[in-house]
Amino acid sequence: MTDVALPPSPAVDATAVRAVADGLSRPRKELPPRFFYDEHGSRLFEEITRLPEYYLTRTERTLLARWMPVWVAALKPRALIELGAGSAEKTRIVLDAISAAADSSVYVPVDVSAEFLDESAGRIGRDYPSIQVVPVVADFTDAFALPDGLPAPAMHAFLGSTIGNFAPDDAVALLRRVRERMSGGDRFLMGVDLRKDPAVIEAAYNDAAGVTAAFNRNMLRVVNAQAGADFDVDAWEHRASYNAVDHWIEMHLVALREQVVAVPGAGTFSFTAGETIRTEISAKHDRGSVDAMFAASGLRVDEWTTDDDALYALVLASPVG
Ligand code: AVJ
Repeated sequence: MTDVALPPSPAVDATAVRAVADGLSRPRKELPPRFFYDEHGSRLFEEITRLPEYYLTRTERTLLARWMPVWVAALKPRALIELGAGSAEKTRIVLDAISAAADSSVYVPVDVSAEFLDESAGRIGRDYPSIQVVPVVADFTDAFALPDGLPAPAMHAFLGSTIGNFAPDDAVALLRRVRERMSGGDRFLMGVDLRKDPAVIEAAYNDAAGVTAAFNRNMLRVVNAQAGADFDVDAWEHRASYNAVDHWIEMHLVALREQVVAVPGAGTFSFTAGETIRTEISAKHDRGSVDAMFAASGLRVDEWTTDDDALYALVLASPVG
């Protein structure tokens, strides 16, 4: 063969190309937050959760440790369905309470990453002999089926303030789908970051060590790998600012110079110097906004608890209607 060998083609994924092309074709360009979480991005996120400025994770953990034993003793759930399985640590607080309250139960982590699920399912199966782990590989923002024959009642959990990644209409659509999978005796557990002094919120997304900036810019590396784009990562900087009208923090990547980015199969995308790509919204809530979101989704708040500084809330809800 006389042809010059081509470099191995990267594992370009058609779904990723479509998502990138769609987001970059909008008048205000954006990319979906799922592109944060390759292996390196997931590690950076874990690092974020330990930053002094990022109060969310440790505040939620304190609330879970305080309230899970109480709420779980009252409900005695036989199944835990967790959307976006995330870090095993917060799940363990819930599983500790469940395994103390029931002789046998089922844990259903729902996550897009099969690799991540296999690994955590293995570990949890070993550490909790009374809990059967049944992982479901699915994007929880789409419709997905739960395994048949789950024992009742179930606790459906959506922790980490991941609800914040959804604008109000999308959040309601997601919560409605959760509601549809719930039976009368089931409960919905959610952790949510609260509205507060914007300076406190902005500090959490602009940490002094620059981990959030690295996390944000890593998205371009992921987009290059998954969609075959040719972003020059060094030509972009991190920006996060609070949008007081929509009550959300917005993360953007700001173009440091004019540039053109090619996405093979989807065309080229031009950026002016200073133009931004919005990579994430992280909505902040209060009791009123959660009540409204839940009411529109067929859920009613039974328990609402916050830390002493009202940074973060843990919410327990029942299905209605
Ligand atoms: C995982 C979506 C809850 O919005 O705070 C952390 C992601 N982004 N720092 C959040 C994130 C920047 C995080 N969530």
